[in-house]
Amino acid sequence: MLKEQLERIVGENNVSTRSSELYCYSFDASQVKGKADAVVRPQTTEQVADIVRLAAELGLPVIARGAGSGLCGGAVPVNGGIVLDLSSMDRIVDIDIDNLQVTVEPGVVHEKLNQALSPYGFFFPPDPGSTAMCTIGGLMANNGSGMRCVKYGTTRNYVLDLEVVMADGKIVRTGSRTLKTASGYDLTDLMIGSEGTLGIITQAILRLHPLPRARSVILASFETTTLAGRAVVKILSAGIIPSACEILDSTAIETVRKYDPSVELPDAGAILLIEVDGMENAVKEEAKTVGQVCSELASEIRVASTADESARLWKARRLVGAAISRIDPKRSRVYVGEDIGVPIKELPGMLEYVRSLSEEFAIPIMTYGHIGDGNLHTGMTMDMLDEKGMEIVNTVADRIYRHAIELGGTVSAEHGVGKARESYMELEHPTSMAVMRMIKKALDPQGILNPGKMGL
Ligand code: LAC
Ligand code: ZN
Repeated sequence: MLKEQLERIVGENNVSTRSSELYCYSFDASQVKGKADAVVRPQTTEQVADIVRLAAELGLPVIARGAGSGLCGGAVPVNGGIVLDLSSMDRIVDIDIDNLQVTVEPGVVHEKLNQALSPYGFFFPPDPGSTAMCTIGGLMANNGSGMRCVKYGTTRNYVLDLEVVMADGKIVRTGSRTLKTASGYDLTDLMIGSEGTLGIITQAILRLHPLPRARSVILASFETTTLAGRAVVKILSAGIIPSACEILDSTAIETVRKYDPSVELPDAGAILLIEVDGMENAVKEEAKTVGQVCSELASEIRVASTADESARLWKARRLVGAAISRIDPKRSRVYVGEDIGVPIKELPGMLEYVRSLSEEFAIPIMTYGHIGDGNLHTGMTMDMLDEKGMEIVNTVADRIYRHAIELGGTVSAEHGVGKARESYMELEHPTSMAVMRMIKKALDPQGILNPGKMGL
């Protein structure tokens, strides 16, 4: 019955209720599992609106999904319902350089967008590790960011206007085609990071940024992660804003070596990859200053000599999270406790705390990530056959989350809350959670949009 109703909207080929196919939509890259009643692949906004109207009539959940590369269960159908696979709505509708903007559908893969923009000398700066997989819709739903937000900000800083299908099936435009507006509530920003719980984004106008003329990567080695953390505080408070500032601890360094032995990384407790960008002369000057500021704390400093070397460093950095199982093939990466954010000044203390947890629980924790904006990935692995393994991993993650909140930080700096972090929402937002629930109730009174997420 549901299948036929959906087929009437999107055609036979774009609906499935086969259990083998539903299985593929029952998880993402986290440990969260669910089961959909149907998967549907809309091609247009009107189809999305019709599907949401049908779901509202039947009182069924609707879960928007892009590439399924999420790390906290955000797009997993934990309460059943209809999974909206938006990956076929993947058109770059209009590149409008004169207005510094691009119009996209939500299924556009991040890397493809920047490939399309680069011949014009522009880019969309948020740069997630998962660029080759993740979609712009997923990035908007979670306010994703990645490597370059220390200088350029996160996804929300680049969204000018959204087309959104609301819970009653109405199609709404939230923003404006201007580069700024002071008119009305900021519904665009409300939708960014709402993880499909307030509406389904079907189109977006994004603001573009010119590509920098030059980039330079400085590689600084440290004896410990804590020293690297102190160096970051010094770099930023010296008034330098790098375009990227990433940390790799010794396990991450070893992982990169295993993944691509041609990437030459020093032996160190931790390294920082600090990128500066801009006009050629300024880049040279800033690279020199970064070296000077780091020199008291670092054991070695070098500058990547060629564009090719920088590209290989970034590629290895992107894949380090997934490549960690090369260190011990029996252990798999478990994405929990993986993207906390803390105020910059608290970084050395947080890094020290993570190191102490690794000792206390005798579990390897690979620390890497966007340290320049206080965002750390504390990557744990476990032997999937070890029954106690998951319990230990979850206990360590819980301690990491709580410590980050105590320091004035956040449980998710970029991956979103989803299912995996919902139990921390009250703790992190003791006064505003009630307001979030009021907003949810007002915009989705039946609770059909991605229910069971974000602690709402
Ligand atoms: C990264 C993902 C895990 O930065 O956010 O690699
Ligand atoms: Zn990241």
